Amino acid sequence: MFTAATRLVGLLAYPASHSFSPQIHNAAFRALGLDWVYLAFQVEPSRLPAAVEGIRALGFAGANVTIPHKESITAYLDEIHPLARLIGAVNTVVLREGKLVGYNTDAGGFLRSLEEAGIDPAGKGALILGAGGAARAVAFALARAGCMALILANRTEARARELARALGEAGYRAVEVVPWEEGSLAGVVPAVDMIINTTSIGMSPDREGVPFAPEFLRPRQIVCDVVYNPPETRFLEGARRRGCRVLSGLGMLLYQGAEAFALWTGREAPVEVMREVLYNLALR
Ligand SMILES: NC(=O)c1ccc[n+]([C@@H]2O[C@H](COP(=O)([O-])OP(=O)(O)OC[C@H]3O[C@@H](n4cnc5c(N)ncnc54)[C@H](OP(=O)(O)O)[C@@H]3O)[C@@H](O)[C@H]2O)c1
Repeated sequence: MFTAATRLVGLLAYPASHSFSPQIHNAAFRALGLDWVYLAFQVEPSRLPAAVEGIRALGFAGANVTIPHKESITAYLDEIHPLARLIGAVNTVVLREGKLVGYNTDAGGFLRSLEEAGIDPAGKGALILGAGGAARAVAFALARAGCMALILANRTEARARELARALGEAGYRAVEVVPWEEGSLAGVVPAVDMIINTTSIGMSPDREGVPFAPEFLRPRQIVCDVVYNPPETRFLEGARRRGCRVLSGLGMLLYQGAEAFALWTGREAPVEVMREVLYNLALR
């Protein structure tokens, strides 16, 4: 039952109907006995400034932001957390004393999913495929976690170069950009410890694509895919067959949500409740 005191959290997305976040966060609020509700709002890009002002005017506790608003929302916020500014994208907004503050919890979510799998990126060499919002979060996360070297490959090479420049400006210079070509990837892939696909290749409804042939992979390499729908992409299936350690995007999704929950409520997220809801939705 909602009351006059119910706190509101919204998702701003376009489209918004496929998101798992309302079920995950509402289950988490219930588990902690919080009089809070999470609702998804389909916001056309031209309406984003009005929607952001609405969050403030209606006194929401905060919001999540996703495709296609993660970058454009930064123009309408009062403050942006330094990590979100480096990444250039905000996925969580907190209304604090009338001010809208933007955060990026994708980076922390990715690191916590690695940690849970017992993977420490410190001292490792990693290849990141992609240079969009997810790639930027993963790259800054790995740089901060002490990755020894990062190699970036993206279809549009200029975006990978821009990410390398941003990493360099933040003091992380062990970055190389390689062409998005089979020959080049075939040379680079066997030389790294970790490969992370941050492109949308393999995502539903297409599901068929892979960024490169699994034959390039070595057994026991760590292969991550930030795509979570399907939970295991064809790329991860191929990597598993090659004897690699594989990690899907579900863990990152879970922990970015847990970090956002803690930012809004000031309470530690009930991760196991959230995991059960997420896995039931994703695997059905
Ligand atoms: N697990 C999680 O919590 C989580 C969090 C965030 C995002 N994600 C997932 O990450 C994926 C990317 O999201 P994003 O926000 O980074 O999107 P984005 O900013 O639009 O970036 C998309 C990336 O994919 C590349 N790409 C798309 N289609 C391609 C193709 N056919 N061939 C080669 N490269 C292609 C793009 O290359 P160009 O630059 O050349 O266009 C770009 O690097 C999505 O599947 C999203 O659901 C997961």
